[in-house]
Amino acid sequence: MPGKLVVVSNRIPTGAAPSGGLVVAVHDALRGSGGLWVGAHPDPAGPGDDGLTEIARDSYTRCAFHLTEEEYDNYYLGFANSVLWPLCHGRTDLVEIERRYEETYLAVNRRVARLLADRIGDDDQVWVHDYHFLPLAQELRRLGVVARIGFFLHIPFPPLGALSTLPTPDDFAAWLSAFDLVGLQTRGDTARCLEMFRSDPRAEFMRDGTVKFRDRVVAVRSFPIGIETDAFAELARAPEEQAALGADMGEKLVIGVDRLDYSKGLPNRFRAFGAFLDDRAPDAPRASLLQIAPPTRERVAAYRAIRTELEEIAGRLNGAHSELDWTPIRYIHHAVDRAVLAGLYRRAGACLVTSLADGMNLVAKEYVAAQDPEDPGVLILSRFAGAAEDMTEALLVNPYDIGEMATAIATAFDMPLEERRARHAACLEAVRETDVSVWASNFLSCLSTCVPTMRMPE
Ligand code: G6P
Repeated sequence: MPGKLVVVSNRIPTGAAPSGGLVVAVHDALRGSGGLWVGAHPDPAGPGDDGLTEIARDSYTRCAFHLTEEEYDNYYLGFANSVLWPLCHGRTDLVEIERRYEETYLAVNRRVARLLADRIGDDDQVWVHDYHFLPLAQELRRLGVVARIGFFLHIPFPPLGALSTLPTPDDFAAWLSAFDLVGLQTRGDTARCLEMFRSDPRAEFMRDGTVKFRDRVVAVRSFPIGIETDAFAELARAPEEQAALGADMGEKLVIGVDRLDYSKGLPNRFRAFGAFLDDRAPDAPRASLLQIAPPTRERVAAYRAIRTELEEIAGRLNGAHSELDWTPIRYIHHAVDRAVLAGLYRRAGACLVTSLADGMNLVAKEYVAAQDPEDPGVLILSRFAGAAEDMTEALLVNPYDIGEMATAIATAFDMPLEERRARHAACLEAVRETDVSVWASNFLSCLSTCVPTMRMPE
């Protein structure tokens, strides 16, 4: 009799009806097994607490652990988002080393392991999400948990050299080897993870491709994440959303949707749009860039800096190019309702995804899913986004090359219908192949075939 599924993720949905691709896929997997989903309580200033608070219970249970303000600062803003995030996104210059960050990160993982250990049966499967919980399996093993534990990293796996930025670089391999399965977004991520193990004298490669690391065996594989393709396409088609968008969005619309994160390449994107405006013929149709960039992690200095930089560039470009009845860059610094977003994607003739580094980038997939296949828009996609590995028929660009991106915007607007259709069909096929429900079931069925190694790292 298979056991239940236990999911751990830093963010946990609090509403009654979870929405959004990943959340729905995890929700469905949990419903099937009557499982448990554990995450951080959404109130960052909640009371420090040694227990789990139940958020919801029906076919499965959702529980949250509380973070003290100090833990929130050092574990979430600190080690997770001022060390691991920049490290994994190629910005080691932004890494802030503070002993208290690392200590609190380990302590929070230890506490979550303690809260969970008694609730995990030997036949259960545990699915840990993302960089907030890299040491969790190691802590669970220390408490005697023998169940299968899988890990999925949603962000890029760092190159070997970058790992040396960590206070204790060797930890990474030890943390990961306490899992039975390490899932990564792309083949490139998998190659980098295996390279890390290869460079470690403690690791040995097995015939079946798994890695033996001291007493444990771990499988490393890519599972590219996707979206709920059909549901999103349907949302984009909803006539009421189309009507709600209003009339004048400029004659040509290019859209960008990103959390306001330095990894998204927004300043260069704006500069590229400015260069496109500089180059266009005086009688060319007007074009607007609609950039939706909700705030994120604003207490981290690098996020405040990118906001200031972007607003300065947007102001300068709009000052130079606006006319009395036209503002070329519309920059919205708050979240937009998903249904409205879907309608906007469908209306936009092009979408700019120009990340300097990105685990997958689901905006790229949502934009493609939202298009009218008869008259689709064009995806301009950074070759540094995980999505570029399979969406090779997008207009792939180098996000450091402003001229190339400016040309890509012009190419997208001028592209003949037949070419747009052919590129869109190829991209849509790639999106369908990685539908998020397939992603979740592939990961879990792979985890269920892992032979658990009972021993724990020292
Ligand atoms: C990325 C990470 C997620 C994270 C999300 C939003 O997609 O992979 O783990 O939840 O960003 O970031 P936040 O810090 O607001 O949770």
